[in-house]
Amino acid sequence: MKYSTAIVGAFALCVSEVVAFPAAAIEYAAKAERDARTNEELESAIASFEKTRRAVGFDAAAHGNDYKVIIKQFEQMFALQPDAATANYDLSVLTPFRADRFQQSVSENPYFFNGAFTGVAVQPAAYTFIYRFMGNKSAEYPEGRLDQETLKSFFSVTGTPGNFKWTEGYEKIPDNWYKRAIGDEYTIPFFLTDLLAAAAQYPKFLSIGGNTGTVNSFTGVDPADLTGGVFNADTLLEGNNAVCYIFQLAEQMAPDVLKGILTDVTRPMDMLTQGITQVLKPYNCPVLQDIDKSQFAQFPGAKGAY
Ligand SMILES: *[C@@H]1O[C@H](CO)[C@@H](O)[C@H](O)[C@H]1NC(C)=O
Repeated sequence: MKYSTAIVGAFALCVSEVVAFPAAAIEYAAKAERDARTNEELESAIASFEKTRRAVGFDAAAHGNDYKVIIKQFEQMFALQPDAATANYDLSVLTPFRADRFQQSVSENPYFFNGAFTGVAVQPAAYTFIYRFMGNKSAEYPEGRLDQETLKSFFSVTGTPGNFKWTEGYEKIPDNWYKRAIGDEYTIPFFLTDLLAAAAQYPKFLSIGGNTGTVNSFTGVDPADLTGGVFNADTLLEGNNAVCYIFQLAEQMAPDVLKGILTDVTRPMDMLTQGITQVLKPYNCPVLQDIDKSQFAQFPGAKGAY
């Protein structure tokens, strides 16, 4: 159930122009309890929230114990801004944290796979959402300040470093917390700007590929091989190529991910295709008809995970 709602969250990301989670999600939860019609939206809202938490509880499946992983990762993230008076977990903090998590997966998980859909297109949201949504907006910090107490509240963590305690289900918007200003919504183009800024800093984020069965064996697929030459590594960061590459690949790879989780993928795929078409409309992408999936054969972790 959890895994499938996480995927619904990924759809929410792809199909809605404004992704107003997770803060609004929790507000919504209170109102929606008695309103069945909003249940579907609510589920995706909460799934998105779970996804942000997953950024901290990375690779829980590989580690078995969700709870311990969450606390361990939370400790590491928290420690990046140790001074309570000045702490701000913004993207300048979270992007290097994501790079460390990526590296940690490469060095600890022999089956680590960075797929187009789950890895390249959706995973950045798990990090950018933390700051973009949880940051407390004010005149002084129009893009938000995410301090220690706010972070703990959203993640349902209490206690102090070394003694943190995570209580599932007690995520809370702190009192006197201010969401994004009207007109400054976190839109898909805004998200893409964040995604590309992170990739410019850490090109490995765009690298579709994985470990080949042992740790530290990360091998990236050559974009030209994968796409029959429609895209290539040399020009991937030029113009709109990266956005076109990621989202067209995500669309090609999504059915395989979904088949492993849902019995009927038709409707979700329609939504995803529509969403991606919408996202890519302004970008004038080269046409990608097909990809060479045999490129993934070398990655045991790719099975059903892209
Ligand atoms: C959010 O920012 C406002 C303005 O600086 C402040 O009054 C309020 O206490 C802050 N809220 C939280 C939860 O930090």
